[in-house]
Amino acid sequence: MNERVALITGGAGGIGSACAEMFAAGGLQVALVDRNPDVHRLAAALGEKHHVPTIGFVVDLAREEEVTALARDALAWKGRVDILVNNAGIHPKQLDRKFMLEEVTNAHWAEVFAINLTAPFILTRELLPEMKARGWGRIVNNASTSGRTGRVNGSTPYTASKHGLIGLTRSSAIESGQSGVTVNAIAPGPVLTQRIMNAPEYRSGKAQMVRYGKPEEAAAVINFLVSDQAAYVNGAVYDVNGGTLMA
Ligand SMILES: NC(=O)c1ccc[n+]([C@@H]2O[C@H](COP(=O)([O-])OP(=O)(O)OC[C@H]3O[C@@H](n4cnc5c(N)ncnc54)[C@H](O)[C@@H]3O)[C@@H](O)[C@H]2O)c1
Repeated sequence: MNERVALITGGAGGIGSACAEMFAAGGLQVALVDRNPDVHRLAAALGEKHHVPTIGFVVDLAREEEVTALARDALAWKGRVDILVNNAGIHPKQLDRKFMLEEVTNAHWAEVFAINLTAPFILTRELLPEMKARGWGRIVNNASTSGRTGRVNGSTPYTASKHGLIGLTRSSAIESGQSGVTVNAIAPGPVLTQRIMNAPEYRSGKAQMVRYGKPEEAAAVINFLVSDQAAYVNGAVYDVNGGTLMA
């Protein structure tokens, strides 16, 4: 077992749980965060399978006070958080149809930003000092192809928040780079998780792409970015999209 502790938000979802599986298989101690209470069962099963300490936290990342409390509770668990994966994110298409810009309410905009950008900011702010003090840390933000380009209709809050998440990645990477802490992002293309299966394009069979990615294929890149081998990768945005966007 590794003494390092990893915190993964959205740990009950597709990419988050694939990531948790890889981390636990690699001996990391894993804290899973989700608003879905299944996170407790998933954490327990993961720990039993890989013989590593695990814990689940039920948190609504849209609520700032819960995010701040999460940082405190996660640090209290083992006295350290070495790896933070800001993975949780929501997309308007989860509501089963697209929302064009004119239809986006302030409340909807605020909710997407709270989960996709403010929660990663708060967790970074709260956990980074302790990583810096120890001289080692890894933060990986799960952005999207939509954080690199604006080609998808009906995605304004999502696209804007994911561009912001890449900005947060780069800015915090500069501030932390001298301290042994790296901050990177991945930008997945469509990965076949429940979110995509719920989307109108998938259900209508009209989606056009080479193929969908698998959650493990996104998680594998995160797994590399949190490794010791990736020490010189900082402020990078890794595309994981099967070649559907080359920039
Ligand atoms: N699947 C894709 O095609 C794809 C593509 C690009 C980027 N991404 C990004 O990858 C990340 C993970 O996506 P996924 O496809 O695994 O999605 P998913 O829906 O399978 O998982 C997301 C998880 O986040 C949790 N979550 C959502 N809102 C939350 C909140 N307020 N508080 C706590 N937990 C919350 C959900 O309960 C869920 O378990 C997201 O940030 C998403 O934007 C996904």
